[in-house]
Amino acid sequence: MQTVTVSASSAYPVYIGGGLLERAGELIAASTQSRTCAVVTDSKVGPLYAAQVCRSLQDVGFTVRLHAFPAGERNKNLGTYGAILEFLAENKLTRSDFLVALGGGVVGDMAGFAAATYQRGIGYIQMPTTFLAASDSSVGGKTAIDLAAGKNLAGAFHQPDMVICDTDTFRTLPDAVFSDGVAETVKHGLIADAAFYQFLMDGDIRAQIDDVVRRNVEIKASVVGEDEFERGRRKLLNFGHTLGHAIEKCSGYAVTHGHAVAAGMALASRAAERLGYSPAGTLEAVLAANKRFGLPSGCPYAAGELYAAATSDKKRSGSGIDVVVLEQVGQAKTVRLDMEGLRAFTEAAL
Ligand code: NAD
Ligand code: GLY
Repeated sequence: MQTVTVSASSAYPVYIGGGLLERAGELIAASTQSRTCAVVTDSKVGPLYAAQVCRSLQDVGFTVRLHAFPAGERNKNLGTYGAILEFLAENKLTRSDFLVALGGGVVGDMAGFAAATYQRGIGYIQMPTTFLAASDSSVGGKTAIDLAAGKNLAGAFHQPDMVICDTDTFRTLPDAVFSDGVAETVKHGLIADAAFYQFLMDGDIRAQIDDVVRRNVEIKASVVGEDEFERGRRKLLNFGHTLGHAIEKCSGYAVTHGHAVAAGMALASRAAERLGYSPAGTLEAVLAANKRFGLPSGCPYAAGELYAAATSDKKRSGSGIDVVVLEQVGQAKTVRLDMEGLRAFTEAAL
């Protein structure tokens, strides 16, 4: 088992390794006085892993309530979130009890938002079961649901008390879901660590999965430790997200988050090179990674459609929006655009 500590407004451990689902009870019991929890999962992860996690918790004396909602981004909405809150209330969870988010990023974001808001905030533990959730969404405390107007438009910053990442769970992931995590991993290399990017291009991710997850978590922990509430450096983690979220929305969430981010990074890098924000060669680095991992670099939507979807992105503030571009592989910066600038950026991206 490897451990990374995140030092944000609270400090917490991220445990990474095989066989950790069955150690969940032991790891959690050592760090809490509470004895009741709700395990929140989805309809695909529940049948695979919930029994094992519940048993591990019960074996060390926890009373466990289990709630599963229908899997998928289209269910990351107010209705599903409301049902989680009602479940917690019906089962009389108190402020000293806690949630366990068992699943991918959709489960983590929604259970985390429920934990942030139920009785004005209770503790929660992230147990990511996708490569994307392990490498990105389970760490850093961003929780959210989607609204009709766009992705993640209601949410809160609420750090988990612990992250337990059992990398054995990735064995049941469909290849396409695994590659969603590869996209966020490539993003971390492109914005923060050229040597990591090169390892991804030359090495074997699956053969060294624990180390790859650990490096992702270290990069994220470093950024979140410095800028938990996204006033500065954390914005760089949104590389590929302004146009990526627009692609997700235009597709009615048929395009998954990781695939949309991969395409968003390519589109942003093309626009950035054409408009002189990034040097030549940065687009090529993104295209090469997307090609190697079978991720998309284009999108079927016209500039006008993408622009309309991008204007409801929550990274917009006042009359402007910060888009992330590469200075070189391993280094990124933000560029502040007004709405006309965003339109020009979107047109140059295609
Ligand atoms: P997901 O949670 O929808 O999981 C993808 C699919 O895989 C689902 O059908 C799920 O049921 C299934 N699944 C999960 N684990 C499995 C396993 N071990 N075996 C078999 N099937 C499994 O998607 P995701 O890619 O994990 O997460 C995407 C979400 O994360 C998006 O909503 C995105 O906005 C969010 N996100 C949040 C942050 C953050 O910082 N909070 C960062 C990145 C992404
Ligand atoms: N995935 C973006 C962030 O956590 O800030």
